Amino acid sequence: MISIEKSSQTKIDKTDFDNLTFGQVFTDHMMISDFKDGEWHEPVIKPYGPLSIDPSARVFHYGQAVFEGMKAYKDKDEKIWMFRPEQNFERINASSKRLAIPEFPKDFFFNGLETLLKLEKDWIKQGFGNSLYIRPFVIATEAGVSASPAKEYKFMIICSPAQSYYSGEVRVKFSDKFSRAADGGVGFAKAAGNYGAQFYPTNLAKEEGYQQIVWTDANSHEYLEEAGTMNIFFRIGDKLITAPISDRILDGVTRKSVIALAERMNIPMEVRKVTVQEILEAADSGNLKEMFGSGTATVINPITGFGNKGKNYDLPKLEDSYAHAFKDTLMKIQYNEAEDPFGWRYEV
Ligand code: COI
Repeated sequence: MISIEKSSQTKIDKTDFDNLTFGQVFTDHMMISDFKDGEWHEPVIKPYGPLSIDPSARVFHYGQAVFEGMKAYKDKDEKIWMFRPEQNFERINASSKRLAIPEFPKDFFFNGLETLLKLEKDWIKQGFGNSLYIRPFVIATEAGVSASPAKEYKFMIICSPAQSYYSGEVRVKFSDKFSRAADGGVGFAKAAGNYGAQFYPTNLAKEEGYQQIVWTDANSHEYLEEAGTMNIFFRIGDKLITAPISDRILDGVTRKSVIALAERMNIPMEVRKVTVQEILEAADSGNLKEMFGSGTATVINPITGFGNKGKNYDLPKLEDSYAHAFKDTLMKIQYNEAEDPFGWRYEV
């Protein structure tokens, strides 16, 4: 049985749900499970608040931390749904394994998550675009700075009401210098450090007017792989292309859902390496119709233009964009407004 300590007050009445900045407001409760003495202990739910952690804990010194991003949606009948949550469970354990963090039992994950969501259901607002962003994460809490895996961890889930991730248009810069991940590294994992390491190059790109970087392969910078918070898709003519999963690229849940939907929507789809050169040639000949990112936080995010080695390219505004079609189809499934032929929806 999960123990619940209820918060004596709620922040919900003070929250402006029409003007949310992504990831700034958190709900009243959080879930915590501790790993100690070689096992994960039954999760507890507590009022949301600061933690007390020894300053020498491994997470602060060696970044032994992984996380996930998930969302919950409320339909017109007030039912609550998640989207393919078992994928996130499997991925956080794959990420944990790579970071030498003990894997987390499935029933703890699902019971803890569902109990928390039921408690926080009023934070989930109805309507397309409104959701509760769920952030499960694991941190190494054992005291001591020896450079070895910790023996103590905290697995936690916090939740934040969300609307869109980006408030304006998204332009991206193709990276010709910095890299996100290398072969044999941790690029496939949702390791905290993968994201922290992007901040500096992304800041430089922002100074040039781009919101994100499209990471290229670390060896040659010839292949386009993934954007900062999203997987990335390119449309050349009628054909949609995205890079294959590798140990450098995150196996995005939205990415794999788009690939599955493309087949159903009769959109020609190729999962293969994408070269910078072919995208530049397609842009120059007018064949590059669209680029968009996919991710839990961003859903499907159209990209309005890109930069490569100091040259800027604008993408056309299409009436019949694939990005729009995927977003609409995906959201109708997520919000229980359409058939779910793949069995992706999960009722809480
Ligand atoms: C998500 O889409 O959930 C992510 O984890 C991206 C995040 C860095 C905002």
